[in-house]
Formats: sequence, structure tokens, C-alpha cells
Amino acid sequence: MALQGEITLPGDKSISHRALMFSALGDGVSQLENLNPGADVQTTRDALINCGIQIEEKKGIVHVQGGGLRPFKQPDQALNCGNSGTTARLMLGLLAAHPIHVHFTGDRSLSKRPMDRIIRPLQQMGTNISARERKYLPLMLNGRDLWALDYRLPFASAQVKSAILLAGLHAKGETTVKSPVFSRDHTEQMLKAMGAKVKIKGRAVSISTLTKPLQAITMRVPGDFSAAAFFITAALLVPESDLIIRRVGINPTRTAFLQVVQEMGGNVTIANQEEHLGEAVADLQIRSSKLKGIQIYPEQIANLIDELPLIALLATQAKGETVVNGAEELRVKESDRIKAIVTNINAWGGKIFERHDGFSIEGPSRLKGGKVITFDDHRIAMTMGVAGLISDTPAQLDNPNCVDISHPGFFHELRALSN
Ligand code: S3P
Repeated sequence: MALQGEITLPGDKSISHRALMFSALGDGVSQLENLNPGADVQTTRDALINCGIQIEEKKGIVHVQGGGLRPFKQPDQALNCGNSGTTARLMLGLLAAHPIHVHFTGDRSLSKRPMDRIIRPLQQMGTNISARERKYLPLMLNGRDLWALDYRLPFASAQVKSAILLAGLHAKGETTVKSPVFSRDHTEQMLKAMGAKVKIKGRAVSISTLTKPLQAITMRVPGDFSAAAFFITAALLVPESDLIIRRVGINPTRTAFLQVVQEMGGNVTIANQEEHLGEAVADLQIRSSKLKGIQIYPEQIANLIDELPLIALLATQAKGETVVNGAEELRVKESDRIKAIVTNINAWGGKIFERHDGFSIEGPSRLKGGKVITFDDHRIAMTMGVAGLISDTPAQLDNPNCVDISHPGFFHELRALSN
């Protein structure tokens, strides 16, 4: 049952959220192709429409009518951010300087995730936000004039960095965010490509007040690297596989997973690299490989944060020990991903040990398959779906539909490649 052939993947989720949001500040109509089709990006689209932005889809291309410098109107209902942390956090920054009152809500998972990491810096810029227990949704944003901020992030987070930079677009003066290690840089690259005054000096990013609308863009969103990681893992683990993934985003601040996998002995090659609006795109070829365990260090974590459940799965089939340190952020994702992956891999007979900030795994071990608790988390469901390709019995997921958050059709596409 090798994985063979070629696939293209849905558009990158992080880039899709940003392309929609930034197009709203444009000087004309932006045309966005290959936007991520999952529920999270739809949530951002709905939130923007609720704030008065006109968005239409024609023949698979999404047209966003830019509204210029301050395009957002008072929404007549709460912005329901569903399961999407990126929607909640980036929209807070984007709307903060508009004279509107916005009620943000979310689903059960999002309502447990920390928002104080955004609220604190935005309050320092002058925003008025009142949140449940000062840190959770639901919250109320009362937009007002902002002043610039020089902020040192206490931990690496592209969402927090982006929220502050977006608020900075409408703040008086130059706003700077310094990160302890690099995190994904889609926000700064795209804003720069659209004409915002962005300065990048190492891990510090500064943004000046927007004095004219951003330039509207025509963009084909690159394939989602985080979606590709599930197929890379499947092809590495299922014997005799040889898979090509076309037109995937390989932004260097997103792809530490590739280096880790190559260091583990994985055969992954990159070809036909190009660049568009600051984003590198290439084809990847993956052949099944014998793997060995490795150490992953805290400074690597931010660039492979969403791929860590897959590292755990790869490590169960690698010879020797793999240790992941400094990944406590995993506890506040769509689920507590340390607990979720440890629970499932242990239940299938893998040797994984929980640490407060990560896990260690001894491999190789045989996975018996069977029941999976997804914790309603798309990345846990997809990781265990891939694990089911090499287990004694197939995976039985308690909520397979949760993959619709980022990749509707995931299981269908995985099955279509296996022969
Ligand atoms: C994202 C940033 C990461 C990542 C999330 C998407 C983004 O979160 O886990 O899936 O689009 O900026 P943090 O910035 O909170 O680490």
C-alpha cells in the first residue's frame, strides 16, 4: 500500500487569513486564488464581511473589495471566531484602532485559549478590551486611537507579533516587535509587498503608520506546508512510497520540519523553486526512508510548532530516542497537543513519555491501531489518520470531521494516493 503519484494541496492557512485581511485595507479589488478551503479561513472571511468588507467568489477566485485606510464598519452581530485562534488574534489587532465596538466569541476550544497575550500589548497601545477573567473569549473590543509600541515578546508567537503589527498600522508613530526566536514572517512579508513601511532587522520588525491604502494584490496562495507535512510523513513511513507534492510554500520560517526530517534520515528533495509576494514555492519529492531518533531544541520549536505531533509519530518508527524540549506552547493549541499525542500513541503501544514542555519517544515500535481520541483537533486527527496507514488495524477516529478546519477532503486524498 505505497503512496505514489503527485498531489497539490489546499492553499496555506496562515497566508490565506492574511491575504483576506490585508486586502480589506487595499486601494482596489484584490484577487485571491487557491485560498485555504477550511472552516478557519471561512471564519475570517465571514468576520470581514460582518465588518462591512465586500467579498465575492467568481470561478474559484475570491475578490476582496479593498476599503482603503479605515475600511471597517460597526458589525451588527458578534464576530464568532469559531475554532480559529488566528482569526481572533489578528482581527483584534486589525480592528483595534477603528471607532467600533466588537464582541468576539469562539467555540469551546477557542474560549479556553489565552487571549491575554494579545490584550496586554494592545492595552499598552491604548485599546480598551474587556475579556472574561481578563484573558478569555468572549471579549469586547472598544476601538479607539492608538499610540505606537516597542514590545519584546515573552515567547515566540507569529499571532501575537502580527496582531501588534496590524494595530501598529493605525497607531501614532513606529511600532516595533522583537521576538526571542524567529517565527513565521508571512505578515511582515505580505505587508511589505503591499506597500506598507516595514523594517526587518534580525528578529525585530517595525511598522510605520499607514498613510495611504495598501496596494491591491493578485495572488495564488502557495500550497500549505503544514498540510504537506502529513503527506511527507505518510510517504516516509509507508514502505516503497515515492510522492511528489507540487507548488508548496517553503518559507524558511515555516519549514524546520524539513530539516528535522532530513536529519532523521528522511529522503526529501526540493525542486523548481520560485518566489511570489515574498513567499517561496517549490515541488517536494519524498521517498520512504529508514529513520533515526534526534534531539529537538527549544529554539527550533516555533518553526515547526504545528508539525510536532508528526515528529512524535515519525519518532515511533525511528531507531533510538527522540526528545522534544521547549514546546510548552503545544499545550494551548486547539487542544493540549502534548496530552493528545501522548494519550493516542501510548494507547496504540508506542513508547512515548510526557514532559511538561514536550515528550520523549523510544523507537521503533509497532503500533496496534484502533480507537483515536481526536480531542476535536484537526492536526491530531490527521496525525493519527497517517499513523493508521502503518498500524496493525486501521484508525477509528471519534471525530474525523474535525479535519475540515484546515483540510476538508484530507482522508479522501490520502486514500486516493495509496495503492
Ligand atoms: C499561526 C501561528 C502559530 C500556529 C498557528 C497559525 C499564524 O501560532 O500554531 O497554527 O497563522 O500566525 P502561534 O503564533 O500562537 O504560535
